[in-house]
Amino acid sequence: MSKPQRHVFVCNQNRPAEHPRGSCAAKGSSAVLQAFWAELQKRQAYEKIAVTYSGCLGPCEKGPNVLVYPEAVLYSGVAPSDVEEIFNSHLEGGTPVARLLAPATVW
Ligand code: FES
Repeated sequence: MSKPQRHVFVCNQNRPAEHPRGSCAAKGSSAVLQAFWAELQKRQAYEKIAVTYSGCLGPCEKGPNVLVYPEAVLYSGVAPSDVEEIFNSHLEGGTPVARLLAPATVW
C-alpha cells in the first residue's frame, strides 16, 4: 500500500435513538460511506485516496460528517449524492466543496 495523497474519514458513529447528541449513523452515514467506497472503486483511485470509517468527529448535530486530510477539511450534512462532487472537486481536483463545509462555529 502506498501513502495516499488524501485520507477521507467518514463518521459512522451510532448511538441509541434517545441519546441527546444523536449520531451520524442515524442520519444516514452508512450510505455515505458506501458511496465513498463505491466511487473509490469506480475510479480505481486506491493509490492516491484512502477512505476509512471513524467514530464521532465532534459536531454530531451537523452530520453526517466527513473529514479530509491533509487539509483538515470537515464536511457536514453529506449525502450520498454529494460524493461524486467531493471526488471531482476536492479529492482529485484539490478544491474543497464550499457548499458542504462545516460552519466555522464548529470547525
Ligand atoms: S456522531 Fe458523527 S460527528 Fe458525532
